[in-house]
Amino acid sequence: MARSALLNVMVQAALKAGKSLSRDFGEVQNLQVSVKGPGDFVSQADFKAEKIVHDELMKARPTYGFAGEESAEEKGTDGAHRWIVDPLDGTTNFLHGIPQFAVSIALERNGEVVAGVVFNPATDELYTAEKGGGAFMNDRRIRVGARRVLSDCVIGCGVPHLGRGNHGKFLVELRHVMGEVAGVRRFGAAALDLAYVAAGRLDGYWESGLSSWDMAAGLILIREAGGYVSDMKGTTDIFGSGDVVAGNELIHKALLEVSNRPIPGR
Ligand code: IPD
Ligand code: CA
Ligand code: CA
Repeated sequence: MARSALLNVMVQAALKAGKSLSRDFGEVQNLQVSVKGPGDFVSQADFKAEKIVHDELMKARPTYGFAGEESAEEKGTDGAHRWIVDPLDGTTNFLHGIPQFAVSIALERNGEVVAGVVFNPATDELYTAEKGGGAFMNDRRIRVGARRVLSDCVIGCGVPHLGRGNHGKFLVELRHVMGEVAGVRRFGAAALDLAYVAAGRLDGYWESGLSSWDMAAGLILIREAGGYVSDMKGTTDIFGSGDVVAGNELIHKALLEVSNRPIPGR
């Protein structure tokens, strides 16, 4: 499988940051038993990973803009291109020694995501996609699942938590979705969850309150794997709304309908 020079740069950055995260993840597992816990250590691991990604990408394309979760946005002299980076997606998992986390890197050109990489160093799974070139897991081409009815589907989601999101709204959505599907999952790393939709592991996904770095790489993975993504209203304003609904054409449509059903009795 031939990758473009740009995608290669992104892959090298993700692998290098992944190596650093892997090393730190080993240490986090030791720190679980300390009273203070691994909080500060994980923040450092997160910053370190972002610096690695930043330096690799900016070395290769010094004029591009850079939007990473852990630092202030850099504008770049090239107005057309911007990297969108989450150096550690699934921080809570990482902090708790759960091996479900990823480095997520996307490239935006004139406001459109044109390439994406998601790498889980704990499983060595590398997801890549470039506009018009298909989506891959390691060297294998991936496609969204082919299931046609929700009753056969396993659907992923994000659950709001302490101090985050609209708990009541989510519970209404969940109540409707769980009554129609074969299973609901919450894995805790949105970038990887979207990659799982691209790979057909999850048949669909929905979450609200996300940031562009959680979703950017996942969006192109899903589109290049033949899937559909929108916000909760069905529009393409995904970054603006912070919402995402994904699946194959039929499941995306069905999930949109079910998750938007009104609260019973209203
Ligand atoms: C979080 C994860 C999680 C999602 C949260 C995100 P972080 O990102 O993607 O799955 O539910 O909304 O903020 O904080 O681990 O980078
Ligand atoms: Ca994230
Ligand atoms: Ca993060």
